[in-house]
Amino acid sequence: MIERLLAVIIFVSLCCPSAFAEDNIDPNTGLNIDTGWELVSAHCGVCHSHKLVISQRADRQTWLDIIRWMQATQNLWQFDPATESTMLDYLAKNYPPQSSRRRAPIPPSLMPELKQSSAVADYLLSTQNKP
Ligand code: HEC
Repeated sequence: MIERLLAVIIFVSLCCPSAFAEDNIDPNTGLNIDTGWELVSAHCGVCHSHKLVISQRADRQTWLDIIRWMQATQNLWQFDPATESTMLDYLAKNYPPQSSRRRAPIPPSLMPELKQSSAVADYLLSTQNKP
């Protein structure tokens, strides 16, 4: 029984590695695979890593501003309107603005007890005063 289960797991992992890939991410660029990703893959990794693109979050207008800024100052070439529109749709959909990218604060009930941390502080103070 265990052997059959293992055989199935191995078979699935060999025949469809995408079953284990995270949310359809292209392994070479790290870009989400979605409509228009090939264009972004082809155009947006030439001068800098795709990671710079992925780490940015913006709405459609701001993505357009970023492209215009690169065209004005960084020698980025012009796109035909259809290409540009497809890329902007892709970027705004896959890398939209996020209100907060930080995790929520840890609730006080999950924090270490004050007693413990002051014991650590006492210890550190006591070692500091030693020669
Ligand atoms: C012709 C070269 C070139 C191409 C092609 C290019 N970029 Fe850039 N891009 C740059 C340069 C240069 C910078 C500034 C890098 C730095 O500050 O280190 C930059 C910066 C960026 C930044 C960071 C902006 C910021 O505010 O820090 C993003 C996001 C970005 N590019 C996205 C894109 C996208 C999306 C594409 C495809 C449409 C693209 N880039 C194609 C040259 C290019």
